[in-house]
Amino acid sequence: MHINGKEFRTIWFDKKDQVVKIIDQTKLPHKLEIKNLKTAKDAINAINAMEVRGAPLIGATAAYGMALAIIENNDFAFIKKISGDLIKSRPTAINLKWAVDRMLKKLLGVNNNELLKVALDEAKAICEEDVKFCENIGLNGLKIIEEIYKKKKDKVNILTHCNAGWLATIDWGTATSPIYHAHKKGIKVHVWVDETRPRNQGANLTSYELNEEGIPNTIIADNTGGILMQRGEVDMCIVGTDRTIATGDVANKIGTYLKALAAKDNNVPFYVALPSSTIDWETNNLKNIPIEERNSEELSHIKGLDENNNVKKVLIYPKKSKAMNLAFDVTPAKYVTGLITEKGICEASSEGLKKLFK
Ligand code: MRU
Repeated sequence: MHINGKEFRTIWFDKKDQVVKIIDQTKLPHKLEIKNLKTAKDAINAINAMEVRGAPLIGATAAYGMALAIIENNDFAFIKKISGDLIKSRPTAINLKWAVDRMLKKLLGVNNNELLKVALDEAKAICEEDVKFCENIGLNGLKIIEEIYKKKKDKVNILTHCNAGWLATIDWGTATSPIYHAHKKGIKVHVWVDETRPRNQGANLTSYELNEEGIPNTIIADNTGGILMQRGEVDMCIVGTDRTIATGDVANKIGTYLKALAAKDNNVPFYVALPSSTIDWETNNLKNIPIEERNSEELSHIKGLDENNNVKKVLIYPKKSKAMNLAFDVTPAKYVTGLITEKGICEASSEGLKKLFK
């Protein structure tokens, strides 16, 4: 995808400097800053501080974090310790554990002098696979948008929550990939972008990337989706997911569940787009999904540009007030119209998932 007309990916390895390069997403949309990750600790911090975020990109960063660990010290005990630290850096997105486990499996038994090459090749393979998967999610989801467009013969209004765009993956995005494909095919689309408090990933990232690709979009407060659905101004919802469990229940950014309820009440199709790396086959009860609780400062403070174009962070709550910041919620499968994956679209249920993947 593009920024200022230039093609970008969200993460890559710089062979010359032996560093991992990322777009520091905490600086967007006001500044495009490429950051170097030099050590495994840098990768852990980047995930934890949300310089990189979004389930697939978190997984890819962890994979490269393992390679950075090998550059520091190619002793397997050290690599194993780092893999544990990486997994703990954010709890909800399953791609993190998935990527670290895949790397460990690949590295086990490899000669010390081969470890770095094998790790870099595998991290790259994870990224390339994600690009292909996200592209296929787009082609599969495109069929749904095409059908709505054929019936409606007018612009298709799509609501999305958080950022499940290319910035959350390596390229294309999950929820946005069908939108990008529809736009490329000449289908008129317009996106309602949930602002997504507290960190505003919708406003800061989704709207930013859609603007860069020329896709009409409007930012709305998180609570606006319901009335828009009642007014018939939403044709479908597409969201991403940080972890979809074996039963088809979907963990995603806080607020997703309420959008799904509103969609059900208004007969608006509610789709979840995901690569298979986001499926947690081992969890069968939504209550067992770990829900990340983040610093309440993300709620009580807000960042933006001041009148001199300097980024400023300000307190918006009474100094004495307490705040609680759960980062994710779970949408039960019964509210999900379908899961859009790289292999096709399936019912959000264990049968639906098994039919596609097993
Ligand atoms: O806290 P974040 O910004 O990492 O949360 C991201 C989301 O909830 C995305 O919707 C999800 O990871 C899907 S990304 C393709």
